[in-house]
Amino acid sequence: MSLVSVLRYALFVLIPLSLTLSSYLYLYPVFHLCAFPSPDHDASTAYFNTLRQHTFASHDPKKIAPFRLLALGDPQLEGDSSIPDAEAATYPHLTQFWKDALLLNGTRHSPLQWLRHSLHDLIDFYLDDIPKSLYVYRKRLDHIGNDYYLGHIYRTLHWWTDPTHVTALGDLVGSQWIDDAEFESRGWRFWNRVFRHGLRVPEDVASQPAEDFQDTRRLGDDAEVWKRRIINVAGNHDVGYAGDLSQERMDRFLKVFGNPNYELRFHLPVNSTKVATEDGEALVPELRIVVINDMNLDTPASSPELQADTYKFLNAIISTSRDVNRPAHFTLVLTHIPMHKKEGVCVDAPFFDFFDGMYENGVKEQNHLSDTASKGFLEGIFGMSGNENVPGYGFGRDGLILTGHDHEGCDSYHYINQTSDGEQLWEALRWQDALSAGLVNQPGIPGMREITVRSMMGAFQGNAGLLSLWFDEETWDWEFEFTNCELGPQHIWWVVHVLDLITIGVVAAYGICVILPLVLVCEKAGQKLKRVADGVPMWDTQGKALLEAKHSRDTARVGDDSVMGTEGQTTRALQKEQDTMHATLKKAADHLDVPGSGKKSVRRKKSKTAVNGSLDSIRPNSSGGRS
Ligand SMILES: *[C@@H]1O[C@H](CO)[C@@H](O)[C@H](O)[C@H]1NC(C)=O
Ligand SMILES: *[C@@H]1O[C@H](CO)[C@@H](O)[C@H](O)[C@H]1NC(C)=O
Repeated sequence: MSLVSVLRYALFVLIPLSLTLSSYLYLYPVFHLCAFPSPDHDASTAYFNTLRQHTFASHDPKKIAPFRLLALGDPQLEGDSSIPDAEAATYPHLTQFWKDALLLNGTRHSPLQWLRHSLHDLIDFYLDDIPKSLYVYRKRLDHIGNDYYLGHIYRTLHWWTDPTHVTALGDLVGSQWIDDAEFESRGWRFWNRVFRHGLRVPEDVASQPAEDFQDTRRLGDDAEVWKRRIINVAGNHDVGYAGDLSQERMDRFLKVFGNPNYELRFHLPVNSTKVATEDGEALVPELRIVVINDMNLDTPASSPELQADTYKFLNAIISTSRDVNRPAHFTLVLTHIPMHKKEGVCVDAPFFDFFDGMYENGVKEQNHLSDTASKGFLEGIFGMSGNENVPGYGFGRDGLILTGHDHEGCDSYHYINQTSDGEQLWEALRWQDALSAGLVNQPGIPGMREITVRSMMGAFQGNAGLLSLWFDEETWDWEFEFTNCELGPQHIWWVVHVLDLITIGVVAAYGICVILPLVLVCEKAGQKLKRVADGVPMWDTQGKALLEAKHSRDTARVGDDSVMGTEGQTTRALQKEQDTMHATLKKAADHLDVPGSGKKSVRRKKSKTAVNGSLDSIRPNSSGGRS
């Protein structure tokens, strides 16, 4: 089988395979039936409505939630600092070899020492630097691929689901222990590869808590800008836990990713004739998004000043909150470390570790907030209470908490039993368990849902959270629904792209193989043409001679009969003569009229016919023997 047919058969397999797998990868949310939940709580409506948005069929705008948050957990961009022996890629032993071999560092060695050092360096270069650097390059390639894998999730989902807002729930980079240059470099990758075309939330948009819910935007205004803004949450790997959170880490986070503590206030434009009023105030639907750095809520913190800042912000949020009785208000909290829960509710169990003897013995690691801090969130921000004799019967404000940190993800419900005999404690159950236990919206049991968004890393199937929030004008209250959309591990991304590269390579090779023979055919054809043309030139002496030679040959052939008739020579003899002529065509000019050279008689005869021929050819109406 020729190379061309091998390539052709390979393409028969590769092209359909590449097209199928690439379509699958680039349209994965379509195949995975992903869509923002629809206000009618019907997954198929949501999906087909999204599908219609991407086709010419008309979609139903009423089935689309006005607030759709694409929530991404823990991208954790890794970099060189997470690669062991990353410096091997600079080949330190090769540098050392040149130094030793060329005696660059000024040491004087005996020839034996010189040889010993140089050989040592070479061995270290081949057996240490090279294997290590190959590993380093592989890891770097991994990181680049991972950036584009995460970017693929963001871009594809953003295109397909059409969110109104996007959030990254902390641990944007993979380590708080990296230097500023590495932090900037990962920040660059975050904005240019993962969240390409994404925008930082500008400082003047990131509002600080204020009385009377000022600075409120209309949900739906500046939609194009809002859907590109990435609402970044600070995670432990971005700024550090309470123990290692420093002003420098805070500053560089602010510079690259934006403010870690702020709120966004929106109101939803609704049919004004329906807006209920209470004490003359129009109770328009309001949405308050609280972005809070919960890294240093717990103690001890190495920087009491920064902790005071966080407390100040939290207190400001609480003191400027709407009255718990105000209807049509929804508080969405975006933070990194999840609320406290007993072991077994989520994958991560409560866990605390502290620095010993440094960083003011501050928090070194934690899986959850402490129960006190969690209580602060639930009772402070949401105004819930175990005491039913408070405003709103302790049910507080409507809302939701979105967190990251626990890469596995979790969906839980925090509640407090107001009728409990003993000490009233906040407890938590998995959301499904709380639902089946009938705890949700039970009188006497205020509760709050917390969704820990599963990480978008490949090891966690490249997950993304889709939160829809809409306003029900019948009940005059907000409603939400959350769903996940997974891409699958990063290997899928790698396999498809490597396969695509192979296919492109084979297509190119096939193209060259098909075109090359064409070139050869053309060359051959060209050579033939040239050979014919060689006989044609008539304007130089060489050409003239050639022409004569050619004519002599041609007329000899044509004149076979006459020659045979007059001189009685056989055609075969003439033919032979002709062949000899043909062979010596190139030299004909020289040979033809050189007297005394071999085959005299033959040539004489030929010159005779040649003369006849030429005469014939210039005679009008003569075919010149060209028959
Ligand atoms: C507003 O609601 C009223 C009462 O239900 C209705 O008659 C009117 O058509 C609505 N207006 C719009 C713009 O939807
Ligand atoms: C709440 O406490 C009361 C009184 O102890 C108890 O009967 C009830 O089962 C508790 N409810 C839940 C959901 O734990």
